[in-house]
Amino acid sequence: MNFDFEHDLDRHGTNSIKWDLYGEDVLPMWVADMEFAVPPAVTEAIRRRLDHPIFGYQIDAPSLRGVIAERMAQRYGWEVDPDWVVILSGLVNGLNLVIYSATASGDAVLIMPPIYPPFMRACQNFERPIQYVSLVSVSDGHILRYELDREALAAAITPQTRLLMLCNPHNPVGRVFTRAELEFIAELCERHDLLICSDEIHSDLVFTGYRHIPIASLSPEIERRTVTLLAASKTFNMPGLVCSAAIVPDEKLRARLKDVSHGFGILPNAFGYVATEAAYREGQPWLDALLAHLEKNRDSVVDFVETRMPQIFATRPEGTYLTWLDCRALGLENPQRFFLEQAKVGLNDGVPFGPGGQGFVRLNFGCSQDMLMKALSQMAEQLENRE
Ligand SMILES: Cc1ncc(COP(=O)(O)O)c(C=O)c1O
Repeated sequence: MNFDFEHDLDRHGTNSIKWDLYGEDVLPMWVADMEFAVPPAVTEAIRRRLDHPIFGYQIDAPSLRGVIAERMAQRYGWEVDPDWVVILSGLVNGLNLVIYSATASGDAVLIMPPIYPPFMRACQNFERPIQYVSLVSVSDGHILRYELDREALAAAITPQTRLLMLCNPHNPVGRVFTRAELEFIAELCERHDLLICSDEIHSDLVFTGYRHIPIASLSPEIERRTVTLLAASKTFNMPGLVCSAAIVPDEKLRARLKDVSHGFGILPNAFGYVATEAAYREGQPWLDALLAHLEKNRDSVVDFVETRMPQIFATRPEGTYLTWLDCRALGLENPQRFFLEQAKVGLNDGVPFGPGGQGFVRLNFGCSQDMLMKALSQMAEQLENRE
């Protein structure tokens, strides 16, 4: 079956934050949703659900929990009991729930920036001190690559540290952490008795040559101390349907997380529920085609930046549809504002991604080649105009 990733749909009038935040003359390459129609099976499932005109509260039904458990076994050889799966609304709810349920006042949280801003926000919401251990960047020619700072990570842990928050694959630097890196983190957490909150929302979006490994799958000891958060929403382009899942093997922690979730009124959305199940059951051909398209776009960004914007250093993402661009050598006060105002391209400013974000922007390449090339050309032209 052929899927069309080359013709952009007009999204005006759909209440899209990505398209409606800036003016109509701006090409939005920022917030992480893509320009593609969801798999046909998802639309069908929602249509079938619409045939019943009552949209009551949803129960945490065994069917979706079972599909998620099966997926973990098939893709990663990780045996998950469906009872460990807790269905939530958006995944950011999950980050907040874990901080609130698994830590107490005074407990500190280890975070490796630059990182998706809600990681920091979740800690701030409940006044948990953050211990930052920045990823280190190593340039390989024109490519920017980030790695764990193992020594700094080990040195940062104090008696107050209770939880390590992992983003794998990593937004915004696009790393898919290797088994050796995950084992290092796991060993450290075991040695210091830390819990792990692992956001694996981008785990289906991994390119040729790389393999996602859920950190919880490393061993029963790590599984017990980990909450894995995932969703079909990034993969199948439906974050507006707000449905995600937490896999919580530890019974006590799971009971606490469920209780807090009920207390906050976090309930799955009726359409998100059926859409997620349909995507996981029937979306693989669409996902295979999507990955080929995204990989092509990823390579186009790398080539374009190297040839037309050589003062910028770009990551070559191993996963995700996000590129992280180091614009510091351009000498701009605020590269996000420059590209927005001059090039009419909307990017994410690096600053909210925490330490190491200043002077960077994040570009979303989940769109047609046409839209991508147009945005990159507009950026390059404005840089050339300055020279
Ligand atoms: C790492 C990561 N976690 C969570 C989310 C958002 O999840 P949700 O929209 O389900 O709250 C994103 C969205 O970009 C993300 O990149």
